[in-house]
Amino acid sequence: MSDLKTHIGSLSLKNPVMTASGTFGYGLEFADFVDLSRLGGIIVKGTTLEPRQGNPYPRMAETSQGMLNCVGLQNKGVDYFCEHIYPEVRGLGTAVLVNVSGSSPETYAECARRIAELDDIPAIELNISCPNVSQGGMAFGVTCEGAASVVRAVRAAYPKTLIVKLSPNVTSIADIARAVEAEGADAVSLINTLMGMAIDAERRRPVLSIGTGGLSGPAVKPVALRMVWQVYEAVQIPIVGLGGIMTATDAIEFLLAGATAIEIGTANFIDPTVTVKVIDGIDEYLVRHGFDSVREIVGLAHQT
Ligand SMILES: Cc1cc2nc3c(=O)[nH]c(=O)nc-3n(C[C@H](O)[C@H](O)[C@H](O)COP(=O)(O)O)c2cc1C
Repeated sequence: MSDLKTHIGSLSLKNPVMTASGTFGYGLEFADFVDLSRLGGIIVKGTTLEPRQGNPYPRMAETSQGMLNCVGLQNKGVDYFCEHIYPEVRGLGTAVLVNVSGSSPETYAECARRIAELDDIPAIELNISCPNVSQGGMAFGVTCEGAASVVRAVRAAYPKTLIVKLSPNVTSIADIARAVEAEGADAVSLINTLMGMAIDAERRRPVLSIGTGGLSGPAVKPVALRMVWQVYEAVQIPIVGLGGIMTATDAIEFLLAGATAIEIGTANFIDPTVTVKVIDGIDEYLVRHGFDSVREIVGLAHQT
């Protein structure tokens, strides 16, 4: 067995495999399939200051090599999380992170402030990249000024590990990553979904209720890998890589591109046990190639 431990800021993970927000519920829904204590971490559903209904149905569509969604951050709000969900997830034996969203820097910061009070939540992931909400969301993540304004407000309110989740729907991901690093982000995670759409030719209408949605799954992997590669060369802070990871080999490619940890999203819908298979596969790869620790392979593909 190799040493799978890794660190993101002051956050220690038993291994680099976490679940992506919105694709694994609160973890509890998967407890029948997966020993949750084996996971590096669980990043729970997007959480906002106030409850949100999300968008009307249909809000999922299958595409070739991927899926589209426009769920729109449906959740019961941060107070519900603190009162009802937190007591259930705090003893799962893995790091539980909350994915925080908002419609203004102030609402992001207030949501983060409330989560900071929860002793057993060691970090948040700030979602400045949701493509499926009309106010806030991705609007902040597509300009350096917008991204910086949210991170500045949240950094002042949140003292623990702050991971900022970036949107791929930008011209220069490196510029956005530098902007959030300058405001004190401890790490970046990338990518959120790519804007896309599907049209039903028979009905001559968009498939999704709001027309467009976020594309995820294997189709986005080369884009995500390229962005992790570019951000690794642009910033000093750790990177959490995701987008289309289906297998251990996919995960290893992200580590080699510069990710310190990875997240698995859409693959959970296809195989609810994929996370543990990826953990075992990373270990097997490290042993086979003679590496003692997973930390040794982070960014290795950049070596000339
Ligand atoms: C149904 C669904 C819901 C999602 N909800 C969220 C969310 O609440 N917050 C967030 O930051 N990302 C959300 N995402 C994006 C994923 O966390 C992830 O960034 C994206 O799907 C790419 O990874 P994947 O290809 O492994 O799925 C959602 C994705 C899907 C498919």
